[in-house]
Amino acid sequence: MTSRWVVFSPDGGIQAEFILNNGIPYYSVRYRHRPVIRPSKLGFTFEHAEPLNRNFRVSAARYDSFNETWTQPWGEVREIRNHYNELRVALEETTPSPRRMFIIFRVYNDGLGFRYELPEQDHLSHFEIKREETEFALTDVEVAWWIPAYQKLYTELLYHVTPLRSIPYRAVHTPLTMKMADGLYLSIHEAELSRYSTLTLMPLENNTLAADLIPWSDGVKVKGSTPLKTPWRTIQIAETPGDLITSYLILNLNEPNRLGDVSWVQPGKYIGIWWGMHLGIYTWSYGPRHGATTENAKRYIDFAAKYGIPMVVIEGWNIGWENDWTKHGENFSFTTPYPDYDIVEVTSYAASKGVKIIGHMETAGAIQNLERQLEAAFTLFKKLGIDVVKTGYVSPDPALKRFDDQGNLISMEWLGGQYNVDHHRKVIETAARYQISLIAHEPVKDTGERRTYPNMMTREGARGQEFDASAEYAGNPPDHTTILPFTRMLAGPIDYTPGIVRLIYREFRPGNRVRGTLAKQLALYVVLYSPLQMAADLPENYEQQRAAFQFILDVPTDWQDTKVLGGEIGDYVTIVRKDRNSEEWYLGSITDEHGRTLAAPLAFLDPDKAYVAEIYADGPSADWRTNPYPLTISKVPVDRSTTLQLRLAPGGGQAIRIRPAAVDEIQVPPG
Ligand code: NOJ
Repeated sequence: MTSRWVVFSPDGGIQAEFILNNGIPYYSVRYRHRPVIRPSKLGFTFEHAEPLNRNFRVSAARYDSFNETWTQPWGEVREIRNHYNELRVALEETTPSPRRMFIIFRVYNDGLGFRYELPEQDHLSHFEIKREETEFALTDVEVAWWIPAYQKLYTELLYHVTPLRSIPYRAVHTPLTMKMADGLYLSIHEAELSRYSTLTLMPLENNTLAADLIPWSDGVKVKGSTPLKTPWRTIQIAETPGDLITSYLILNLNEPNRLGDVSWVQPGKYIGIWWGMHLGIYTWSYGPRHGATTENAKRYIDFAAKYGIPMVVIEGWNIGWENDWTKHGENFSFTTPYPDYDIVEVTSYAASKGVKIIGHMETAGAIQNLERQLEAAFTLFKKLGIDVVKTGYVSPDPALKRFDDQGNLISMEWLGGQYNVDHHRKVIETAARYQISLIAHEPVKDTGERRTYPNMMTREGARGQEFDASAEYAGNPPDHTTILPFTRMLAGPIDYTPGIVRLIYREFRPGNRVRGTLAKQLALYVVLYSPLQMAADLPENYEQQRAAFQFILDVPTDWQDTKVLGGEIGDYVTIVRKDRNSEEWYLGSITDEHGRTLAAPLAFLDPDKAYVAEIYADGPSADWRTNPYPLTISKVPVDRSTTLQLRLAPGGGQAIRIRPAAVDEIQVPPG
């Protein structure tokens, strides 16, 4: 016997269906009547308990609708509409000791989410999930942009683009973005990951993907107890790739802000004693080339103050970086500076110049060592006026060390496993108590926590710009940043650390360079959204490229609106954003290794205003391979009837500030 319950998106375009077929639950999805997901499995198998995936009856089914607009404290847009129809199915086993479970579907105009809820009940309390049975039986997938899961570098990988059947790995990370044969775009990810483990997707036959939760070292996927709500399984559906970028489904599926007044969470730009270590000019550890000295810190603070950059991150300030720090994370102290770094002097000097220091806590995967010191470190940071902290988890996956109470190593856990999900939540909540905001590197992937915890501001979780200075790995090819906005970035902001203006540095890293033009580095500030955005290069290099640097100084990091003017995944993308605090718009356009000219109609501008576009374009001879530096800076009057032609060099880009014209810049039409 088959029974069905159907729920539509508010505009009727997306249809999700819950199906109970002889006691076995399935779901399917249609987009404008075309099947997108064929009937697909739901449920769980457990260690030491019967599976929870059959012998069900529906004890109740409830429909609901929701429509509100909420305001982001900071973000890529100010207002977000949260508009969905919900179907909540209550399932109960028909067995002698019946267990209960809810499956909830929320269907939006831009996709859907569904989750399981395991309520408190007699026959299910503590459990170990062996497999989450969720599957996504997709119809014709043409190609997917994917990175493999279970790799040493975790998510710091270059994307592949192939059909699903050609993925030669056990599983791939989400967000997994796909193009369907009929031209539709789909992205599968998750929202509100808490008390659970990270979702990866295992390719099966016939375009089917199965949930593959990252396990604990003993193979168990999730160790839990009722009541438990799983993360939402999300499917974003769009007719153009750009519509994926402006879908806020993942945020909508997170709980509203739990922190109340978060005016202490401040977006902004930062520089740092950072790129110098990546180039090998400085060391993190104490010694003759130590980067984080009091003197050098003051030099960076002076530079930040001179140019009005509000924050400076200082890495290598604390003891523990000796003897291959990546292997000895337990040596890190988060309260003891090196002898040549006077943290009190540095932070008070910074304060006297109106600059804030960003604290740094690299764990190298020794997360218990961090947890033990969290309160003491945050207490110290707060006392010193540090209210943003960058964390790091460098460790060859799976290498999160777990020790017992006697200090014996008991296991090595995956970065995406439940152990680290729980750790991240603990750090976020503890930081919030101290009114500290976070940047995380090598993080658990973003699933939209920033809505609930606006202090969780940005994270890396991708192959960042630092790979362009890696002695060990090849850097990022020109198409990498044209893929990120449609894949990794659907999860949330990225601390890519753009703004390298000295693109070739053979004396430090003969095998590396930035594989893109100077104009493209500027455009990344608009394309790759982050509320905290680094100007990653050395101060002396910015002094050398003063004209280009002006764009980095001008570009905001907090927006009231975002629009995608066009894009093809892996080829190019053009994004415009409106400053949160003014009438200025910023445009960023980037391309892969191919040069191209793109039309940018400025119809989004205010009809009653005259504007000036300050254009930072690839110069006529620019080419990332042979001549990445030429930059043509020009000013042109524009209004909403203007269509700019953006000429992008191979590996190039274009960055534009569009500001209201000053009175003496307004051109009066003749007659
Ligand atoms: C890797 C991070 O991505 C990078 O930003 C940091 O400098 C190093 N780890 C050291 O913590």
